[in-house]
Amino acid sequence: MATETLTLLSAREISKMRDAGRLAAELLDYLAPKVKPGVSTQELNDVAESWTQKRGAKSAPLGYNGFPKSICTSVNEVICHGIPNSRQILKEGDIINIDVTPIVDGYHGDTSRTFFVGTPSPLAQQLVEVTEECLRRGIAAVNPGGRIGDIGAAIQEYAESFGFSVVRDFVGHGVNTTFHTAPQIPHYGTRDKGKRLRKGMVFTIEPMINEGTWEAVILDDGWTAVTKDGKLSAQFEHTVAVTDEGVEILTLRD
Ligand code: MF3
Ligand code: CO
Ligand code: CO
Repeated sequence: MATETLTLLSAREISKMRDAGRLAAELLDYLAPKVKPGVSTQELNDVAESWTQKRGAKSAPLGYNGFPKSICTSVNEVICHGIPNSRQILKEGDIINIDVTPIVDGYHGDTSRTFFVGTPSPLAQQLVEVTEECLRRGIAAVNPGGRIGDIGAAIQEYAESFGFSVVRDFVGHGVNTTFHTAPQIPHYGTRDKGKRLRKGMVFTIEPMINEGTWEAVILDDGWTAVTKDGKLSAQFEHTVAVTDEGVEILTLRD
């Protein structure tokens, strides 16, 4: 059996990840006010791409395993990997996750947020708020000497206490000069189980929380993952590093 290598990043490499992460956070802040009724997901893609190019960075999703666009735009029942499209116009009451990953000097900054288009329904608002809190609790569970299962347990416990479900088919991941690498970070699980967390590990936590069933279906485009029951799904993502003290979020602006 092949031995899976877990990369531990040096302080210098983490500083590179911080630069990429900062740019990713700035990109989401730039896109946030553009999320409005009447805007197409293609327009969001195009302004994200030109903003990224202007800063000398590259959009990791573009061409990644054949993905055709620069960002992922996942609306309502789309769990993740929604493909921007000029015929997809945002409307009042939609929720949309925008997931960006600029590459800066070879390093990936991977982060996403779910935005409201106009005023959300009370249920949509609760789902999105609970999902953001799931990410916060998952991050707070990271400690050197802790285990990967601590993260998923914290997220699952909170999400399910509202009757929501945790997506199983997509997980967080190691990220560095490679977009997706070991370890896998499930957003469900059991405390004190799984690999030990070590200083220098860098990975994403990106819970996808569903209103109804956790089951996913992939559309014929080969990418778009939707909820099997057509109910809402929300997601938030940060890239984090395990530190001596606990954890540092890398996808923040100054
Ligand atoms: N940014 C996504 C993640 O969080 C991955 C998108 S891969 C793409 O891992 F090909 F769909 F862009
Ligand atoms: Co992402
Ligand atoms: Co990710």
